[in-house]
Amino acid sequence: MKILMVCLGNICRSPLAEGILREKVSDMDVTVDSAGTSAFHEDEAPDIRSIQVARKNGMNISDLRGRQFSAQDFEDFDIIYVMDVNNYASVIAKARTDEHKAKVRMLLNELNPGENNSVPDPYYGGDSGFDDVFDMLDKATDVIVEKINNGRL
Ligand code: 4NP
Repeated sequence: MKILMVCLGNICRSPLAEGILREKVSDMDVTVDSAGTSAFHEDEAPDIRSIQVARKNGMNISDLRGRQFSAQDFEDFDIIYVMDVNNYASVIAKARTDEHKAKVRMLLNELNPGENNSVPDPYYGGDSGFDDVFDMLDKATDVIVEKINNGRL
Protein backbone atom coordinates (compact mmCIF):
# COMPACT_ATOMS: atom_id res chain seq x y z
CA MET A 1 0.00 0.00 0.00
CA LYS A 2 1.40 3.39 -1.03
CA ILE A 3 -0.20 6.54 0.32
CA LEU A 4 0.51 10.14 -0.73
CA MET A 5 -0.51 13.19 1.33
CA VAL A 6 -1.03 16.40 -0.65
CA CYS A 7 -1.48 20.08 0.29
CA LEU A 8 -0.57 23.38 -1.42
CA GLY A 9 2.97 24.12 -0.25
CA ASN A 10 4.11 20.71 1.08
CA ILE A 11 5.61 22.48 4.08
CA CYS A 12 2.77 22.70 6.66
CA ARG A 13 -0.07 20.17 6.47
CA SER A 14 1.09 17.31 4.23
CA PRO A 15 4.57 16.78 5.77
CA LEU A 16 2.86 16.61 9.16
CA ALA A 17 0.32 14.12 7.80
CA GLU A 18 3.18 12.11 6.29
CA GLY A 19 5.13 12.05 9.56
CA ILE A 20 2.12 11.10 11.68
CA LEU A 21 0.95 8.28 9.39
CA ARG A 22 4.47 7.01 8.77
CA GLU A 23 5.00 6.55 12.48
CA LYS A 24 1.69 4.69 12.87
CA VAL A 25 2.45 2.25 10.03
CA SER A 26 6.15 1.75 10.76
CA ASP A 27 5.68 -2.00 11.31
CA MET A 28 3.40 -2.44 8.26
CA ASP A 29 4.01 -2.79 4.52
CA VAL A 30 2.89 0.77 3.85
CA THR A 31 4.80 3.57 2.11
CA VAL A 32 3.94 7.20 2.91
CA ASP A 33 5.07 10.33 1.07
CA SER A 34 3.81 13.89 0.61
CA ALA A 35 3.76 16.55 -2.11
CA GLY A 36 2.41 20.03 -2.82
CA THR A 37 0.23 21.13 -5.71
CA SER A 38 2.51 24.19 -6.04
CA ALA A 39 6.29 24.36 -6.54
CA PHE A 40 6.56 27.32 -4.12
CA HIS A 41 8.58 25.40 -1.56
CA GLU A 42 10.42 22.84 -3.67
CA ASP A 43 13.34 21.29 -1.73
CA GLU A 44 12.50 23.25 1.43
CA ALA A 45 12.23 21.75 4.91
CA PRO A 46 8.80 21.83 6.60
CA ASP A 47 7.63 25.09 8.17
CA ILE A 48 9.26 25.49 11.60
CA ARG A 49 5.81 25.46 13.24
CA SER A 50 5.05 22.02 11.74
CA ILE A 51 8.46 20.77 12.84
CA GLN A 52 7.74 22.06 16.35
CA VAL A 53 4.26 20.58 16.70
CA ALA A 54 5.61 17.26 15.42
CA ARG A 55 8.49 17.41 17.90
CA LYS A 56 6.07 18.22 20.74
CA ASN A 57 4.29 14.99 19.84
CA GLY A 58 7.46 12.90 19.65
CA MET A 59 8.15 13.01 15.90
CA ASN A 60 10.98 14.39 13.82
CA ILE A 61 9.89 15.63 10.38
CA SER A 62 12.79 18.05 9.85
CA ASP A 63 14.45 15.85 7.22
CA LEU A 64 11.47 16.01 4.84
CA ARG A 65 11.78 18.23 1.75
CA GLY A 66 9.11 19.85 -0.37
CA ARG A 67 8.29 18.57 -3.83
CA GLN A 68 5.58 19.26 -6.35
CA PHE A 69 2.84 16.76 -7.13
CA SER A 70 3.14 15.31 -10.63
CA ALA A 71 1.00 13.09 -12.86
CA GLN A 72 3.53 10.28 -12.25
CA ASP A 73 2.22 10.14 -8.66
CA PHE A 74 -1.00 8.59 -9.99
CA GLU A 75 1.09 5.62 -11.12
CA ASP A 76 3.27 5.47 -8.02
CA PHE A 77 0.60 5.66 -5.29
CA ASP A 78 -2.56 3.71 -4.46
CA ILE A 79 -4.33 6.47 -2.54
CA ILE A 80 -3.81 10.23 -2.79
CA TYR A 81 -5.22 12.13 0.17
CA VAL A 82 -5.74 15.86 -0.32
CA MET A 83 -6.11 18.36 2.52
CA ASP A 84 -8.65 20.74 0.99
CA VAL A 85 -11.01 21.36 -1.89
CA ASN A 86 -8.47 23.47 -3.80
CA ASN A 87 -5.89 20.66 -3.60
CA TYR A 88 -8.62 18.28 -4.80
CA ALA A 89 -9.29 20.40 -7.89
CA SER A 90 -5.57 20.79 -8.67
CA VAL A 91 -4.86 17.07 -8.38
CA ILE A 92 -7.95 15.98 -10.32
CA ALA A 93 -6.97 18.41 -13.09
CA LYS A 94 -3.80 16.35 -13.66
CA ALA A 95 -5.63 12.99 -13.77
CA ARG A 96 -5.83 11.41 -17.22
CA THR A 97 -7.98 8.39 -16.44
CA ASP A 98 -10.94 7.48 -14.24
CA GLU A 99 -8.62 5.10 -12.41
CA HIS A 100 -6.38 8.04 -11.49
CA LYS A 101 -9.36 10.12 -10.35
CA ALA A 102 -10.62 7.29 -8.17
CA LYS A 103 -7.37 7.37 -6.17
CA VAL A 104 -8.00 10.92 -4.91
CA ARG A 105 -9.75 11.37 -1.57
CA MET A 106 -10.38 14.23 0.83
CA LEU A 107 -8.47 13.25 3.99
CA LEU A 108 -11.15 14.44 6.43
CA ASN A 109 -13.76 12.27 4.71
CA GLU A 110 -12.13 9.43 6.66
CA LEU A 111 -13.52 11.14 9.78
CA ASN A 112 -16.75 12.57 8.35
CA PRO A 113 -17.60 10.63 5.20
CA GLY A 114 -19.07 12.67 2.39
CA GLU A 115 -18.74 16.06 4.10
CA ASN A 116 -15.72 17.16 2.05
CA ASN A 117 -14.31 19.13 4.99
CA SER A 118 -10.93 20.80 4.50
CA VAL A 119 -7.91 20.75 6.80
CA PRO A 120 -7.53 24.54 7.26
CA ASP A 121 -4.33 26.05 5.88
CA PRO A 122 -2.39 27.14 9.01
CA TYR A 123 0.34 29.00 7.07
CA TYR A 124 -0.90 32.54 7.72
CA GLY A 125 -2.25 31.88 11.23
CA GLY A 126 -0.69 31.47 14.66
CA ASP A 127 0.83 28.43 16.35
CA SER A 128 -2.53 27.21 17.69
CA GLY A 129 -3.60 26.52 14.11
CA PHE A 130 -0.85 23.93 13.93
CA ASP A 131 -2.09 22.20 17.10
CA ASP A 132 -5.59 22.03 15.60
CA VAL A 133 -4.22 20.67 12.34
CA PHE A 134 -2.17 18.08 14.24
CA ASP A 135 -5.30 16.87 16.06
CA MET A 136 -7.29 16.53 12.83
CA LEU A 137 -4.47 14.67 11.09
CA ASP A 138 -3.96 12.42 14.11
CA LYS A 139 -7.65 11.43 14.16
CA ALA A 140 -7.92 10.94 10.39
CA THR A 141 -4.76 8.81 10.25
CA ASP A 142 -6.11 6.66 13.11
CA VAL A 143 -9.05 5.80 10.85
CA ILE A 144 -6.70 5.04 7.95
CA VAL A 145 -4.68 2.61 10.10
CA GLU A 146 -7.87 0.97 11.40
CA LYS A 147 -9.09 0.52 7.82
CA ILE A 148 -5.76 -0.94 6.67
CA ASN A 149 -5.88 -3.41 9.57
CA ASN A 150 -9.44 -4.40 8.60
CA GLY A 151 -8.57 -4.63 4.90
CA ARG A 152 -11.09 -1.91 4.12
CA LEU A 153 -8.87 0.87 2.74
P1 4NP B 1 0.59 23.95 3.23
O1 4NP B 1 0.62 25.49 3.67
O2 4NP B 1 -0.17 23.90 1.92
O3 4NP B 1 -0.11 23.28 4.34
O4 4NP B 1 2.04 23.52 3.08
C1 4NP B 1 1.06 26.51 2.82
C2 4NP B 1 2.40 26.79 2.76
C3 4NP B 1 2.85 27.83 1.95
C4 4NP B 1 1.94 28.57 1.20
C5 4NP B 1 0.60 28.27 1.28
C6 4NP B 1 0.16 27.25 2.08
N1 4NP B 1 2.40 29.64 0.39
O5 4NP B 1 1.55 30.33 -0.19
O6 4NP B 1 3.61 29.85 0.29
